[in-house]
Amino acid sequence: MMDWNADLYENKHDFVAEYGRDLLSHVPENPSQSILDLGCGTGMLTHALLEKSSSVVGLDASPEMIGKARQLYPGMDFRVMDACRMPWNNWFDLVFSNAAFHWIPDQEKLLKAVFRILKPQGKLICEFGAYHNILRIRETFQASLKRIGLTPNTRFYFPTAEEYRSLLEQTGLHPELVLDFDRPTPLKDGPDGLRNWVRQFFCADLKNLTEKKRSRIFKEMEEALRDDLWDGSQWVADYRRIRVMAVK
Ligand code: BEZ
Repeated sequence: MMDWNADLYENKHDFVAEYGRDLLSHVPENPSQSILDLGCGTGMLTHALLEKSSSVVGLDASPEMIGKARQLYPGMDFRVMDACRMPWNNWFDLVFSNAAFHWIPDQEKLLKAVFRILKPQGKLICEFGAYHNILRIRETFQASLKRIGLTPNTRFYFPTAEEYRSLLEQTGLHPELVLDFDRPTPLKDGPDGLRNWVRQFFCADLKNLTEKKRSRIFKEMEEALRDDLWDGSQWVADYRRIRVMAVK
């Protein structure tokens, strides 16, 4: 499992939640609905979901993330939990999730669990990495690791819209919208933006390397990606998103 640096995430990668605000605008307002924020991270969107309902639960597999969320938003209901093993049945009106599903390898199990916890007519609204998400970043990272005899062990699930639509249907969820699109995403911190991002999200691959090796990887990646992803003042990650709305 990923060792999340919750402080780095909160300070430097809050764009993840910022983009989630757009997704949030699709959540209807209804004080009596129960909402689950699946993969809530440090809880920014879980907290924002209180604008839509008074009954909101945030769930994340990372104790570090949930620790930070509890510290930031005391009094809210946050749980450390594996999304594939959620204990509820017919419980939530809405499952919301931003930038989390791509970390979960067993999507069939995940969607079965989402189906189970939703009430009849309940809705899934989620967004995560689509096919070819961060393709250039992954390619250069892989090439750098290969040069030192390693292969990446961080695995992501980035499906096409067609693939995900049929997975939803197989699970019994009725897709209302399944859309994939490019979302070039500026990274904070000027010249350090790319290395900060890589440090955070590929930490499982980097944690056992010396700082010297890590620096070499960052330099190689920056060189290889400069033409495509540096816009003169900031790094712009080659994000692609899939947005899903589906009903039980
Ligand atoms: C994403 O949000 O697309 C993402 C972030 C970190 C690693 C992989 C994907």
